[in-house]
Amino acid sequence: MKVEIVNHNLILERLSTLRNAETSNKAFRQNLHDLSTFLIYEAMRNVALDKQIVETPLTSTDGWALTSSPILVPIVRAGLGMLDGALNLLPNSDVCFLGARRDEETFHPEIYMNTLPDDVDGADVIVLDPMLATGGSLLHALRVIAASGAGTITAVSVLASPEGVSAIESSGVDGQLFVGFVDDGLNDSAFIVPGLGDAGDRQFGKIN
Ligand code: PRP
Repeated sequence: MKVEIVNHNLILERLSTLRNAETSNKAFRQNLHDLSTFLIYEAMRNVALDKQIVETPLTSTDGWALTSSPILVPIVRAGLGMLDGALNLLPNSDVCFLGARRDEETFHPEIYMNTLPDDVDGADVIVLDPMLATGGSLLHALRVIAASGAGTITAVSVLASPEGVSAIESSGVDGQLFVGFVDDGLNDSAFIVPGLGDAGDRQFGKIN
């Protein structure tokens, strides 16, 4: 999979708010929403378009419509915080949910929900997860999505470790990963350092 680090000062600014341990859950969700919009906007730069004639108040001219709307797949829980931003940009997209919870001893993802159909019949898919640590959760999602007969697969993450980026890059899955920033590495608990903590807890609390 190809990897693109999206370089933008607004990404650096919003990410700094996410990193700050003093940021409230409400502000965390708002800043994650903004970051998702920036990253998905960039990820859709070369999306396929169909030409359509549009009537302006003065004349006819070329207009453009999306050839199709990609299916959005947030990885629950943390990916839910990217969904609203994605739907604002792609309002006609269908949404499927993949639930993954990392086992904090083995660091392997435990999959507890998958609403993707067995066959998506060549539809393009965008998978959303703000954190790419070991890469295990996203890798699992990418394999499920590829096996469902997806067309173009795009992954969008806010913050990654170098280990996570390498895992996705060498996964053999066709597609492209867009990342906001790559941090220094993982600690002994496989948390991204310096990181931003647990993006699920910081949006929705620690009760789960
Ligand atoms: C976090 C994060 C990713 C995953 C990243 O989710 O949101 O899904 O871990 O780690 P990985 O790259 O090593 O797989 P978590 O398992 O904490 O669940 P949550 O989203 O419900 O908080």
